[in-house]
Amino acid sequence: MTAPDRVRIHPAELSGQVAVPGDKSLSHRALLIGAFADEPVRVAGLAPSGDVASSAAALRTMGATVELSPADDGGLTGTVHGPLGEPDDVVDCGNSGTSLRLLAGIAAGIEGITVLTGDRSLRRRPVDRVAVPLQRMGARIDARDGGHRPPLVIRGGDLTGTDHRSPVASAQIKSAIVLAGLRASGPTSVTSPLPSRDHTERLLAHLGHPVQREVFRDGTEVVTVTPLERGLTPADVVVARDPSSAAFWLVAAACGAGTITATGVCANPLRLGVVTALRRLGAAVEVIERGSSAGEPVADLTVTPGQLAGATLQGQLVVDAIDELPVLALAGACSAEGLEVHDAGELRVKESDRIAVLATALRAVGLEVEERPDGYRVPGGQRPGPGTVEAHGDHRIAMTAAIAAVLGTGPVEIGGFGAVATSYPTFLDDLARLGGRAEVLA
Ligand code: S3P
Repeated sequence: MTAPDRVRIHPAELSGQVAVPGDKSLSHRALLIGAFADEPVRVAGLAPSGDVASSAAALRTMGATVELSPADDGGLTGTVHGPLGEPDDVVDCGNSGTSLRLLAGIAAGIEGITVLTGDRSLRRRPVDRVAVPLQRMGARIDARDGGHRPPLVIRGGDLTGTDHRSPVASAQIKSAIVLAGLRASGPTSVTSPLPSRDHTERLLAHLGHPVQREVFRDGTEVVTVTPLERGLTPADVVVARDPSSAAFWLVAAACGAGTITATGVCANPLRLGVVTALRRLGAAVEVIERGSSAGEPVADLTVTPGQLAGATLQGQLVVDAIDELPVLALAGACSAEGLEVHDAGELRVKESDRIAVLATALRAVGLEVEERPDGYRVPGGQRPGPGTVEAHGDHRIAMTAAIAAVLGTGPVEIGGFGAVATSYPTFLDDLARLGGRAEVLA
């Protein structure tokens, strides 16, 4: 699915229910981990997005059968069936950092050579953080730019377990090593300074291979995986909707656009940092539990407009809201006292340098923002104005600009808007359904 490349979004009042696409992190894992099962795994609710298509295509190149088709609820449904082996071509992960990092871990356990690459944005992102621990497990890995950036050449097989200490709390690093650990001799542990999203752990348990996970008092998280003797046990995986996509509407609601409910959202506590952050700012957020799916809690999230105060985000909350920090800046602008974010240096190595690109985008719609090495400060009492924003290939910046337009005093033109297809190709449909207005310019 694609999205138009240049749009103009108008200020609007929004209200109603929205069913955003399936969660991106869960969609990747349903496919990548599903390929470790003995029999085909049925998947449903997958995001019909560019990133998920990258994982599906990569798996096919690595020998899996992936059959997906659109379902009535807007998601993709179908099956994935391994096993995976040495690919007969270069594996292109497109814009998807999660595909590249997790596949690096998987490829480390496969005899033969796997070459992983991606688009210009992905080829700029660091890979040594996964390559070094995988090398320690026995994989031979080379990467461009002195081992720092893709393309990545992996000669896998013959892994031994490791005990890796990651300097950053990253689910991608943790998952890459855990997936390599499935094919290692002996147990593998990953220690992280703070907990990160535990979708890999939950899905492995759902498919019959539990991972031990402990969180200590100082916040340190340790996960330990044992080698997989046979394949995983097939079980259906229904993917809940993406809280990171819902976040755009929740922030719009909190800033006064109107009452909005995002239904059927993955409510894993390590993904609901946006809810905690909005509540800290003083927003009224209701979380109604709706059971669970493939080991993940599911909930409807409703935000009602109200006066926002101000907040500072740091530590665990920043890990839990890492992908929502761009759009949360708008909540800071429309609050009374503003929003300050610390400990978010990771934003500099996302799909763009998200601190720099966000600051440029906010200034382009007349908002004051202070860019910091590890975050930002947005003063309160501000309302976006009209302007032109360039997304710089970053889907979350494109959608943040769209929400700025909704909340603003005049239209915002967004270039490079097509990037939204990475996670949320139906963004403009949902905007229209909630009462918003967009003009497609190109
Ligand atoms: C993801 C983990 C996070 C997040 C990314 C998806 C995942 O990245 O920003 O969008 O699915 O594991 P890091 O693990 O690099 O923090």
